[in-house]
Amino acid sequence: MLGKFLTRSENETINLGREFSKVLKAGDVVALYGELGSGKTRFIQGVCKGLGVSEVVNSPTFIIMNRYEGRLKVYHFDFYRIDEVDEIIEIGFNEFIYNDAVSLMGEDRGGGEKINRIPHPNPLPQGERKEKKS
Ligand SMILES: Nc1ncnc2c1ncn2[C@@H]1O[C@H](COP(=O)(O)OP(=O)(O)O)[C@@H](O)[C@H]1O
Ligand SMILES: [Mg+2]
Repeated sequence: MLGKFLTRSENETINLGREFSKVLKAGDVVALYGELGSGKTRFIQGVCKGLGVSEVVNSPTFIIMNRYEGRLKVYHFDFYRIDEVDEIIEIGFNEFIYNDAVSLMGEDRGGGEKINRIPHPNPLPQGERKEKKS
């Protein structure tokens, strides 16, 4: 699934997430960039629905990570409360991602700067990491 997608309602955003979930497998890492209110959580709710998560999925704005379990395990990180990339590493981030679950990470401020600065254990090519979701 590659391309630009435009959604015009919250349900379309959820359905896009659900569709996107079909290509996911354990170990995949998904970065979501976008201002507060841009629809990241709705998209993630759709992804989780698609992966068979029955729990209620919310923005982990006041906690840094949520775990869900459906057809696959899901780790949902929110970097809203994090100021420095070091803090992300300190919570054990590198042990979670590229592992046995799908990792979804959302960042509200700074256009994905924090996500891009994380020294990934298995970094993606720069070009792909810089690409912003629209
Ligand atoms: N494509 C869309 N068009 C209009 N409203 C949307 C769309 N996608 C999501 N929304 C609405 O925007 C609000 C913010 O979405 P949310 O997923 O919480 O954003 P974020 O997690 O990026 O802060 C929600 O009320 C949601 O229903
Ligand atoms: Mg959110």
